[in-house]
Amino acid sequence: MTHASINDPVVARQTPRADFSIDQCWEEYTEEEHAIWDLLYARQVELLQDRAAPEFLAGLERLSLSQSGIPNLETLNDALSALTGWKIVMVPHLVPDDVFFTHLANRRFPAGRFIRGRHQLDYLQEPDVFHDIFGHVPMLANPVFADYMQAYGQGGLRALNLGTLHNLARLYWYTVEFGLIETPNGLRIYGAGIVSSAGESHYCLEDAEPQRIRFDMERIMRTEYEIDIFQKTYFVIESYKQLFEATQQDFAPIYERLTTDNTNYGTRDAAPDDKLLK
Ligand code: PHE
Ligand code: FE
Repeated sequence: MTHASINDPVVARQTPRADFSIDQCWEEYTEEEHAIWDLLYARQVELLQDRAAPEFLAGLERLSLSQSGIPNLETLNDALSALTGWKIVMVPHLVPDDVFFTHLANRRFPAGRFIRGRHQLDYLQEPDVFHDIFGHVPMLANPVFADYMQAYGQGGLRALNLGTLHNLARLYWYTVEFGLIETPNGLRIYGAGIVSSAGESHYCLEDAEPQRIRFDMERIMRTEYEIDIFQKTYFVIESYKQLFEATQQDFAPIYERLTTDNTNYGTRDAAPDDKLLK
């Protein structure tokens, strides 16, 4: 894969540290880069008013993300660490799995420095600063979700050792990236991959095509995902507490079951126990 980030001269000139982190060098973002952030921000906030989870919108608010321009990590990290002890570190591009999980396990979220160009407002293959900060950081201001993300990092290191990362990665995909939550006002989005996408913010709630089914951890771990299309299946949680508590059990017996019974679901498949919503 070619990295769009190599077009970012501030990334290209730096030698990453052992944990892959680099400096943001916020002063060096151009006017055009800040303008692209503002454009994406305005578009998403408008779409998300009645679609995003209240906790996501509260996170935007509490972290003052509505200020114009790409956020400066110095101030963002002060606000975020005061709320949940998390901080963001900049990385040049996607980092190896063990590096990623070690950051999460230490309450550090790795974010790309570069921002997409105007020709790629709607889709890019590699997470940029808009996806990583706008998409992921508001939920890290929520204490329960923040604990879930740290636990996921620890679980990721363990799954790496057990050789079960392909199963655990599906949990990240269907919750952290593409998760929906039930609220008294209907389904809402908390997944970062959706909130940072104009098309999918709309599609995941309103389109008749995808199935929306109740969260079931083992079902998720048996379900494939596709990265370059809108999802065909979304999993809906009742609360972040439900998500956190479901992941507090020892996964070793679940991983064991996944090998003894290797039932696997494609992205559009239905399973016998699925509870459909909407
Ligand atoms: N409880 C999981 C395990 O035993 C770890 C985990 C926690 C995984 C939270 C994902 C999310 O491996
Ligand atoms: Fe992401």
